[in-house]
Amino acid sequence: MTNRKKVFSAMRPTGALHLGHYFGALQNWVKMQDDMDCVFGVADWHALTTNYADPEDIKENTRQLIIDWLSIGLDSNKAVFMIQSQNLAHAELYLLLGMVTPIAWLERTPSYKEMRAQLTDKNLDNYGFLGYPVLMTADIIIYDSDYVPVGIDQVPHVELSREIVRHFHALYKTEVFVEPQPILTDVPKLPGLDGRKMSKSYGNSIALGESADSIEQKLKRMVTDTNRIRKTDTGNPDVCPVFDWHKVFSTQDERAEVCAGCRGAQIGCIDCKKILIKHVESLVAPIRERRKRFEVEVKDAREYIKTSQLRANEMAEQVVERVRQAIKI
Ligand code: TRP
Repeated sequence: MTNRKKVFSAMRPTGALHLGHYFGALQNWVKMQDDMDCVFGVADWHALTTNYADPEDIKENTRQLIIDWLSIGLDSNKAVFMIQSQNLAHAELYLLLGMVTPIAWLERTPSYKEMRAQLTDKNLDNYGFLGYPVLMTADIIIYDSDYVPVGIDQVPHVELSREIVRHFHALYKTEVFVEPQPILTDVPKLPGLDGRKMSKSYGNSIALGESADSIEQKLKRMVTDTNRIRKTDTGNPDVCPVFDWHKVFSTQDERAEVCAGCRGAQIGCIDCKKILIKHVESLVAPIRERRKRFEVEVKDAREYIKTSQLRANEMAEQVVERVRQAIKI
C-alpha cells in the first residue's frame, strides 16, 4: 500500500462537464483510482481567481462536478475527493510558498498572458489571478503527489511547481516536498461540434448528461468536410471533425466503411453520423441514468464527501507541519 504512487489532480467548478473532459481527463482518472493513491480536488478558489465578481454559481457547480465525477465512475471509496476551500491548509501553504516565489516566474507563465489577452470581459489585474500557479502548486505538493495528470495547457503550471519546490529546498536546505511530475494523457483529439477545441463557452460541446434527443440534433448539425456540399461530392475524412470522433468512438471496421464511403461518395454525412450517434448515446445513456440518481443522493457536496475531505485534510496537515518546521515558524 505505502509504495503506491500518489496522484493529485483537480478541476475548476465552472459548469457541466462534457465529452472533452471525459476523454481528456476523467477516463484516465477512473483507471488511476484503482492502482494509485489519488486525490481529486474541486478547485473552487481557482474558479474565484477569474470569477470573483460573480461567484454565485460556484457552489452549485461544485455539487454538479461531484455528481459528474460519480456518474462517470469515480468512486470516493477508492480515491479521495476534496473541495479546496474546505481545506484551509492549502491557503496556509499557498501563503508560505508565496514568500519564496519570484513574481517574474508568475508573470511569464503562458496561461497568465494568454488568459489576460483572451478574457477581455474580465478584469484580471488581481493578485489572486497572478498567484494562480502558486495555489496550484500548494494543491499538488500538499499531498506529496508524485504525478499530476493534466492536459497540455496545464503542464507549464506543473513545471512551475517543480521549480518552486526546488527553490524552497535550496533556500531552507531541507527536502520537505515531493517533486511532482505532470502526466500527459495521451488522448485522441475530440474536437467540438464546430471543429474548434471543445469548450462549453464556445457552445460546441456535448454534456455528460445530454439527452438522447439533443445528442442526435447536435451531431446532425455538426460541421463536416466543408468542401463536401452534396452527397454526390467526394469527401475527405482527414479534414473532417466527424471522422476525429469516429477515431474515438467507432470500431475499425466502421471507420474503414465510412472512410471508403465518404471518399467514394457512396454514403452521405448523415449516414456517417448515424453510426456516431449510436456510439455517443451508448456512452452517455448510463452516465445520464447515474446522474439522475446522484442528483438526488448528493444534496450537499460538502456533506456527501465529508469522510473523504477529512482524510485529505489530515494528509495535508502533516505536510504543512513539515513546512512550518522547515521555516522554523
Ligand atoms: N488549473 C486547473 C485547471 O484549470 C485546475 C487545478 C487546480 C489543478 N489545482 C490543480 C489541476 C492541481 C491539477 C493539479 O484545469
